[in-house]
Amino acid sequence: MPTLSHRTERFTDSVIRRMTRVSLKYGAINLSQGFPDFDPPAVITDRLAQVAHDGPHQYALTWGAQNFREALAAKQRPRMGIDINPDTNIVVTCGSTEAMMCAVMSVVDPGERVVVFSPFYENYGADAILCGATPTYVTLHAPEFSFDEAELEAACALPGTKALILCNPSNPTGHVFALAELQAIARMAEKYDLFVITDEVYEHIVYAPHRHVYFASLPEMAERTLSCSSLSKTYSMTGWRLGYVIAPAEVIDRAKKVHDFLTVGAAAPLMEAAVAGLTLPASYYEDLTALYTHKRELFCTGLRDLGFRIVEPQGAYYVMADVSAAEAELGYTDDETFAVDLCRKVGVATVPGNCFFAGDEYHFVRFHFAKSDELLGQALDALDGWQEKMQA
Ligand SMILES: Cc1ncc(COP(=O)(O)O)c(C=O)c1O
Repeated sequence: MPTLSHRTERFTDSVIRRMTRVSLKYGAINLSQGFPDFDPPAVITDRLAQVAHDGPHQYALTWGAQNFREALAAKQRPRMGIDINPDTNIVVTCGSTEAMMCAVMSVVDPGERVVVFSPFYENYGADAILCGATPTYVTLHAPEFSFDEAELEAACALPGTKALILCNPSNPTGHVFALAELQAIARMAEKYDLFVITDEVYEHIVYAPHRHVYFASLPEMAERTLSCSSLSKTYSMTGWRLGYVIAPAEVIDRAKKVHDFLTVGAAAPLMEAAVAGLTLPASYYEDLTALYTHKRELFCTGLRDLGFRIVEPQGAYYVMADVSAAEAELGYTDDETFAVDLCRKVGVATVPGNCFFAGDEYHFVRFHFAKSDELLGQALDALDGWQEKMQA
């Protein structure tokens, strides 16, 4: 057999998705891979039932159905505070996953560098590698998971640096970047002439008093920002695979071509049905925030009461627990074995934190809490006495 590609030889399977398989194997409560166990809003699923009969069932325009882009532009314009032309500033993709890949491919050449904050959502390293680019990691320091501006500047100043990836609110840390942090990133973007590629899939899951600031809304930043997001988390529809890139016309012109060759397009019937979600009133997003604020309180309080040292998230629906003390006491030297044993002996699946870090950080596990209160209660019950159960 000829050799397989060198570019992809260092890829492992996704640890997040692997933990879902481990969870199934042991019949555990799956708090690893981040997807809700509740349905999208009924207006969307009702509309999908109609669309099943009425169509469309054939390809939409490759960069997204007209009515979807118009509804998206109308929703995002006031929130992002920028002008968004549905024809020239949007490409609809198969989830934020494709949006990010398409964004990186549209602006980064092989041999160039991309700045990525660590810990990071595991796809970003792969996005850079698939583009033949090299990621430069900048540490988000625990427990605040904020960066040091001098470290950021050192990374941005490396020759060949072309873009910076910003996940805000951050998965896995739950950090919501404050205005001053975003302004520091903006200064670097300007000084070193970088594109900023944002992943804002948790834009509507932010806990008071924190507030989501769209990077593109900062002065002069819209012209160098590729804002990626999706409907997965906002409307609890991760399986629909609907996402998008919003960017200046010149960038979108390129991104449309990249997207066309990557996937041709997002699913036409799903775009049609999802328009019902994009036109929901502001109260929908307020209710969503209230729902997750409640779940965060329920789950984080429960974890703390059970002796977990957690970093309370400011946004998104994940919580990182520092289990270094337990690992040391129980003799674990890596967090994946720890997480598999937590699954097997305690019955709760988490993600071993190391997969989110550029370096060796074996002392976190990540829980997610986008689950029914009942299931979260069951998980907390299972975790009761977890240290003794782990010893057994
Ligand atoms: C930060 C982040 N980006 C992207 C995704 C994937 O989004 P999508 O379903 O839109 O591809 C996830 C899913 O967990 C995520 O946490």
